[in-house]
Amino acid sequence: MSTRDDILQMLLEHRGETVSGEWMSDQLGISRAAVCAHIRVLRGEMEIQSKTNGGYCLRALPDILHPAVYRTLRGSGEIGSRALFLPEVDSTNAEAKRRCIDGRGAGLLVAADTQSAGRGRKGRTWVSAPGQGLWMSLVVKPSIDLSEVQKVTLLTAAAVCDALRQCDAALPLQVKWPNDILLNGKKLCGILCEMISDLDGVHFVILGIGINLHTPPGGFAPDIADKATALEEYTACPGRAELAAAISKKVEEYLKIWETGFAPVARAYRQYLMPAGTPVRVMGYDGTPREAVFAGVDDDGGLLVDTQTGRERIISGEIAVRGRNGYV
Ligand code: BTN
Repeated sequence: MSTRDDILQMLLEHRGETVSGEWMSDQLGISRAAVCAHIRVLRGEMEIQSKTNGGYCLRALPDILHPAVYRTLRGSGEIGSRALFLPEVDSTNAEAKRRCIDGRGAGLLVAADTQSAGRGRKGRTWVSAPGQGLWMSLVVKPSIDLSEVQKVTLLTAAAVCDALRQCDAALPLQVKWPNDILLNGKKLCGILCEMISDLDGVHFVILGIGINLHTPPGGFAPDIADKATALEEYTACPGRAELAAAISKKVEEYLKIWETGFAPVARAYRQYLMPAGTPVRVMGYDGTPREAVFAGVDDDGGLLVDTQTGRERIISGEIAVRGRNGYV
């Protein structure tokens, strides 16, 4: 870490409070003038107030993928402590995959300001305009069997919801099984988990996360306008580096918990689910919709629905929930 990063760390640790310039110079063994010079540079990137008593107060973080802010907030760990922030990429998932093939993937975070070919589930496109959202991928290497990969997507959804709730504890979030995150019934976040596997098993899973933070100028595209939402429509958006750090930490925490069983992760996930009894439409492999009633998610992440022929457990697929504007 550079001296400027150290100063940033001190300000971040005391965010919203006044940190004395003299104290920072003592801690770092540099002059007050040097502290001042670093603060001047940091001020170009974030809101730092000078106090009359010679102190400084970090008021607001920048809404950019700021590497030093990310590093400081993420701290050490296995997941996401190495990060690659790009101004533009085809898809952060694709870039993460390339890094895995190069052997530099494990634990990596890839995030970009914009994606030219953002990927959604089922071959759909994910619109990722510059600066409008957090477009990120985390590479994890869990020791799991192929049959358990579905659980990683649930874990990711729980981690993202927890991280968002750290920013605003009252956010009306809901997860639509397996891993769409809705805010007030509209889609806020999509998750695309892809894996690198062979006959020996799962080598890497890439957790691709797209969170709409801002409404694009001119609004969402007509085909999704009534189904998509952005965080800023409900609350003050956290900085992207801050949100990415919170998600990385939560993913690591849940992966550790999973080592002793998936049930606690499933419990964390369940707190964001829609109530049992909600009418849903289940999409089969061939896309054929069936009407059903949501009954819950079990400790292994399987979806339980009641249909005309009785209770069913579904481990892959998609459901749609009827909202104010039709099925989401
Ligand atoms: C969905 O269809 O709901 C999943 C969307 C996932 C989008 C994210 S954005 C970051 C990562 N890179 C991609 O190309 N896709 C995922």
